[in-house]
Amino acid sequence: MQRSISFVSSSKSGSAGWRIAALPAHCYHEVAMLKMDVIVDLQYGDCGKGKISHYLSNKNSYTHVLRYNGGCNAGHTIFHKGKKFVTHHIPAGVFFGVKSVIGSGCVLDPDQFFREIKMLEEGGVRTKGKIFIAENTHVITDAHKAEDKQKGGKIGTTGRGNGPAYRDKYGRTGVRASEIKKLKPYLLDMYREWYPPAGGVKKNLTILAEGAQGFGLDIDWGDYPFVTSSHCTTAGALLNGLPASAIRDVWGVAKIYETYVGSKKFQPKGDVFNKMGDIGEEFGSTTGRRRQCNWMNMQTLERAVRVNGVTHLVFNKMDVLREIGQWAVVDNKKVVTFVSEKAMKDFLGKRLAPLGLKKNRIFFSEHKDRI
Ligand code: IMP
Ligand code: MG
Repeated sequence: MQRSISFVSSSKSGSAGWRIAALPAHCYHEVAMLKMDVIVDLQYGDCGKGKISHYLSNKNSYTHVLRYNGGCNAGHTIFHKGKKFVTHHIPAGVFFGVKSVIGSGCVLDPDQFFREIKMLEEGGVRTKGKIFIAENTHVITDAHKAEDKQKGGKIGTTGRGNGPAYRDKYGRTGVRASEIKKLKPYLLDMYREWYPPAGGVKKNLTILAEGAQGFGLDIDWGDYPFVTSSHCTTAGALLNGLPASAIRDVWGVAKIYETYVGSKKFQPKGDVFNKMGDIGEEFGSTTGRRRQCNWMNMQTLERAVRVNGVTHLVFNKMDVLREIGQWAVVDNKKVVTFVSEKAMKDFLGKRLAPLGLKKNRIFFSEHKDRI
């Protein structure tokens, strides 16, 4: 049960006095029924959110898995029952029959959406009655895709129409999913889904919110203009009609080194970075472009942990640096090297503890299909 306090004026202690009183239980009972865990990427996308979403969807009993930002610029690589799947729109709950919702913070390409359903069905994943699109989700049109392919080169976009679709949404000239006839069977009113009718029976919902892209690509927190057009932080999950009080755990996902794909120069000189790309198979799952590589930047990580309110942190791809046999981070613009994996883990543990991340909430992963 959540606790809540209110401040009320106290006549006994005079006009300047206040006392704290507990609210009656019914005032905060409803929010306690709605819980949400959030998955956020702490770097430039491609950190392995798909794997974490697949793992948590299976481990915890969620009523919904919600994709909360981005479009089909995202590519989540998921290994399910030994088979590889790449999803762009549909959240990982679908692999376990959990209601999977594409939220109003996303933009949706209907052609890609139907291709993805076909791909999942052909791969043996039952999708019927499991996939939903918020009716106020905006649609990526053919014109958006054509424009992005033509003009997105400066940023190095994925060319999937993401930027133009969000621009039209905010310019109030966009098209919502509710206006597209063939999407009708999938439409969902998120308000009715999340909340009971006034005075109605309380719903007991636990939502896993799955983000796309990452902190370094966030429209506000990334290196503008080399960013995507949506909100990639924990706050982005709330924009899908959810109250801040619903947030329970925030799973931050990072790689033990960094990658970025786009037009700005990111990869420093040195063979070690080419090795990261080769051994880590660093090619975009949406566009196939080679990702630029660098050591993990501590300032990006710390900012992302704080801004997102991370409670659990997973570092992926430990096996890649182990195979290379070198460990380092960039800290205050200087490269700091470590003699072993253990030394790097100890360093990270010490740096993250003051940010509220105890060792038992930090995970080091070296598998494609599990934490
Ligand atoms: P857009 O999101 O397609 O507009 O591309 C803007 C920037 O974000 C480009 O640098 C893209 O490569 C990058 N980007 C977009 N989506 C992803 C993703 O899912 N993973 C990694 N990079 C992405
Ligand atoms: Mg990806």
